[in-house]
This record gives sequence, structure tokens and C-alpha cells, in this order.
Amino acid sequence: MSVLAIVGGRVHSAGAERQATVLVNTETGLIDDVVDADSLPEVDRTLDASGCVVLPGFVDLHSHLRQPGNEAAETIETGSRAAALGGYTAVVAMPNTNPCMDSAAVISEVLAAGRTALCEIKPSAAITIGREGETLAPMAEMMDLGVRMFTDDGTGVQDDQLMRRALEYASSLEPGDGTQIVLSQHCEVDALSHPGVMHEGAWSAKLGLAGQPSEAEELMVMRDIALARLTKMNVHLQHLSTAGSVEMVRQAKAAGIPVTAEATPHHFCLTDAACASYDPVFKVHPPLRTESDVAAIRQGLADGTIDAVATDHAPHTPDSKERPFDEAPPGMLGLETAFALAATELGLPLERLVDLFSTTPARIAGLSDRHGGPVESGRAANFTVINLDQTWTVSGEDLASLAVNTPFEGRTVQGKVRHTVLNGEPVVVDSKAAR
Ligand code: DOR
Repeated sequence: MSVLAIVGGRVHSAGAERQATVLVNTETGLIDDVVDADSLPEVDRTLDASGCVVLPGFVDLHSHLRQPGNEAAETIETGSRAAALGGYTAVVAMPNTNPCMDSAAVISEVLAAGRTALCEIKPSAAITIGREGETLAPMAEMMDLGVRMFTDDGTGVQDDQLMRRALEYASSLEPGDGTQIVLSQHCEVDALSHPGVMHEGAWSAKLGLAGQPSEAEELMVMRDIALARLTKMNVHLQHLSTAGSVEMVRQAKAAGIPVTAEATPHHFCLTDAACASYDPVFKVHPPLRTESDVAAIRQGLADGTIDAVATDHAPHTPDSKERPFDEAPPGMLGLETAFALAATELGLPLERLVDLFSTTPARIAGLSDRHGGPVESGRAANFTVINLDQTWTVSGEDLASLAVNTPFEGRTVQGKVRHTVLNGEPVVVDSKAAR
């Protein structure tokens, strides 16, 4: 057996932390043992983790990897490299590709490209054909290929009856492997949000830009909570951005309705005031909101109302992002900065961050058998090694993503990924991608 040892770190596992060495069998890709720091057996390779914590690898429920169709902005390979550098060992790829991920053929293509990626690529699939909101996609055959999350992300399913039917149909699907199907919603009522390009409020009025009211999101959150109650089917609410949405999810959970929710770093770090620069790097859907919304998202992350931090990593080419604010596409990079922003900004205990970045998203994505579990003997060796004290400054040019559209350019954050191990292979070593 060939053994990789991660030495000198504090292994954070199931709420406890101890100074220990993680021994990985690189042939099976499993953790062989976690042993006391002073008892290092003979090994083939060591990685230094001194000053670092060893955490279960992160799982992103929401990444746009752009392949197939827009490989100038990102590819599965470059997106997965960005993910690994951000501490992720698995990423759920969103289906708004070209062609759309709405058929077994396109899902198979994404899975094939994902086989050589630097993290596990878990495709989601569209709820409706072409994400056009009219005809249900062939969910069963995509489930058979491993899809567990269905979403029309980029848009929400507008038609109430179709959404009800999608949930009813999905509730009849049984993966048979202990995981569950979830319908994931981009909550936005188009009739209210169009033609808005930022949050509707004092700043949009001042800047003369068309606004999207909070109610455009909240009405769909309200509807989908009602439909989850009606159909008893799991609904995951993507990128919550308003205080009203957080409160509705809080009440739905208290009532036992099967909803989960995610929030993005940009929605807990930035406000609509950033749009005053007219820089399209701050354009995103749903839009950046107000300070009280940011406070509510932070509270929701702290108290468990929001289950996961998701990146909504949305690379766009410089050409497209350099257009005027109202013409540029919405979206921001997220994978390489998400954990550091959360660690720097949220003031949450490490245990809660592990829940938000790893344990709970792994469960929602149906990946708990190999991601998000404790760093212990017998588990898949999917973990990340982070120096929580190291500060660094975000620079789009330095990111591994093909695109550079980070809204956090120049921001100093604390928490740097030193190594990431995927199925026993070190894919990030000393903060550099190994391939
Ligand atoms: O800002 C966004 N960008 N929101 C979305 O829902 C889609 C995403 C994209 O694909 O660029």
C-alpha cells in the first residue's frame, strides 16, 4: 500500500479537534487511519499541515461551469481547479449550459468531462426542457445517471401548476441508494423582476437603474413553501437574498415543511450600494440587497435557518462583463473566495462553518457517502487543509478560474487553503493546483 501522510495539523472531525496525522491509502483513496501526532509510521509522501486545520472537503451546491457551450468563460477543468483551490472536493454543476443539461446525453457528456476534474462534478439537471418552463424534462433517466438535484437555475419555474406537477412527479422517483431527489429553485417572479438590473430601492432610484423588488423573490419563496407543504416534496431554495425570504424559511422549517436553503458570500458581504460604481462586476441575480437583508442572511446562517453556503460561481468573459451595467450578464466568481469570506466575515464557530460548507450541502446533494463526513478511518479521503490565520488579498488575475469577474478584488481575507485531497490524490499542494 502507498501511504500519504498529512502531518502537523489539527484534525477537525465530528465537532472535536486534535493534533493528529492523517494516513491515506492512495491506492484505495480511503483514509487508512488518523493517528496521534507523535507516532508517524513509514510513509511514501508527507504533506505539511502545521498551523492548519484538516476539514472535510467542501461541497458547493451551486456552480456554473459553462461546459458545454461557453468554454471561453470556464470549463469543467478550470472550474474544478478553482474549486479545489477553494477547498471543495465536490461541486454541483448548474444546467444552464448550451446545450442545456436537460437530457441523458448532455448529462453523460458532463459526467465524462468531470472524470478528470480536480473535484467531483455532480451534475444537476433542468426541471423543464431547455429551462423554458413549459415541458418537464426526462427526470427519471437523468436520475438513473446519478442526478439528484433538478433546477432551472438562471430562472425560476414561473408556472405554478407545472411546478406542482414537477414536485409530484419527483416525489415518485426513488434513487434506491439512500439519497433523495430535491427540486432546487431560483426564486424570481419574472413579471416583477423584469427589466430590473439591480435591487429596487434607494440606490436604484439614485442611479437611475431599473430595479427588482424583494417581492420578486419572496413571492416565489412563498409559493414554493406552499407547494412543498402540499406535495411533501423536498424543495431547496437557492441564493436567498432578502430578509423576508429568510423569515419565511424560518417559519416553514418550524412548521415541519421539507425546505432547505442556501446563501452566497456576495449576499452576506455586499450591498446594493456597490452598484454606485456602475461596475457590472456587481451585477448578479438575485441582486445585492440592503444592509438589513445582509444582516438577516447572516442571522439565518448562524441560527440554522439557512442550511448551506453556496457560491453561485458564475464566470463571464471580460468582453461580456465590460458592457454597460444594464447590458452585462449577471454573475460573479465564488469558488476560490467563499470559505475565506465566510471565515472572515461571519464570526461563526468553525463547527458551524463545516456544517454550512461541507456536511449539510453533501447531504442535500446526495454525496454524504463520500463527502462531508468526519475525517476518520475508512472514509473516502476527501478533505482540505486550511491555515485559518493566513491572510491574503483577492485578485481576479491570480484566480484559477478562466474568468476574472470577482466583486472582491483587492479585499484582504483570512483563511487560506494549503492542500486539498480528492479520493487520496493531493490536487492542491502548498496552495497551488497539482495539475
Ligand atoms: O447572477 C447570476 N448568474 N444568477 C443566475 O441565476 C445565473 C448566473 C449565470 O449563469 O451567470
